[in-house]
Amino acid sequence: MDDTFLKNIINGNNLEKNLKSIADAISEKIVFSTSFGIEDQVILHSIFSQKIKNIEVFTLDTGRLFPETYALWDKTLQQYNASIKAYYPNTSQIEEYVQNNGINPFYTSVNLRKACCHIRKVEPLNRALSGAKIWITGLRAEQSDNRNGLNIIEWDEHFQVYKYNPLLHWTTSEVKEYINKNGVPYNSLHDKNFLSIGCAPCTRAIKEGEDFRDGRWWWEDQSKKECGLHK
Ligand code: ADX
Ligand code: SF4
Repeated sequence: MDDTFLKNIINGNNLEKNLKSIADAISEKIVFSTSFGIEDQVILHSIFSQKIKNIEVFTLDTGRLFPETYALWDKTLQQYNASIKAYYPNTSQIEEYVQNNGINPFYTSVNLRKACCHIRKVEPLNRALSGAKIWITGLRAEQSDNRNGLNIIEWDEHFQVYKYNPLLHWTTSEVKEYINKNGVPYNSLHDKNFLSIGCAPCTRAIKEGEDFRDGRWWWEDQSKKECGLHK
């Protein structure tokens, strides 16, 4: 498998058709990661409503998500009667981290913040991606300058997997339109000015004039604001 093979399967902008084509054409493991953000709900709807069985849907439960996110997770399971695999932080690593640093040490240093993200997200992600050939994500170009430079199909050297970002060129209004048109459940925090939603202690609503990701790790420099899932 190479970029060209995948680009030939995925042509045009039809999300439903592209997800179905990729699932039909590829016999190796395909996974889709959801944080239950609005983009992820679009992709999840497309997978579950088409009853695509060979895309494994997973989430990384950091243990620090918003109650609204857990409520949406529950509602989604019921609405689609579907299976979402949850990955958890390694117990001894997180016990040691909290013992040494306390429960909310991420506000005090970037290194402690990154260490928390590593234990709660990156290490479980490594397990979730194990053996996968394709990793589907909800990344969009509009979300940040870094993401603006991405491609729909990318080779991820770090995780040794092809990343497929089907919504890369969707606008925020296109995402909302899809959600409304198809009756897709979404996180109620989106209606309270939360655009990008991660862990509760590290996410706030954005204020007028702020950018998409300004509510994430808001106490840090713009340049440091990735958690290690996406380079
Ligand atoms: S992050 O790197 O800043 O946390 P972001 O919240 O923008 O990422 O989400 C981008 C994509 O990363 C999502 O569409 C999803 O595919 C994946 N992702 C982020 N957080 C998680 C999570 N907790 N569980 C599973 N996938 C996630
Ligand atoms: Fe820890 Fe915050 Fe990263 Fe969540 S976003 S893993 S709470 S540092």
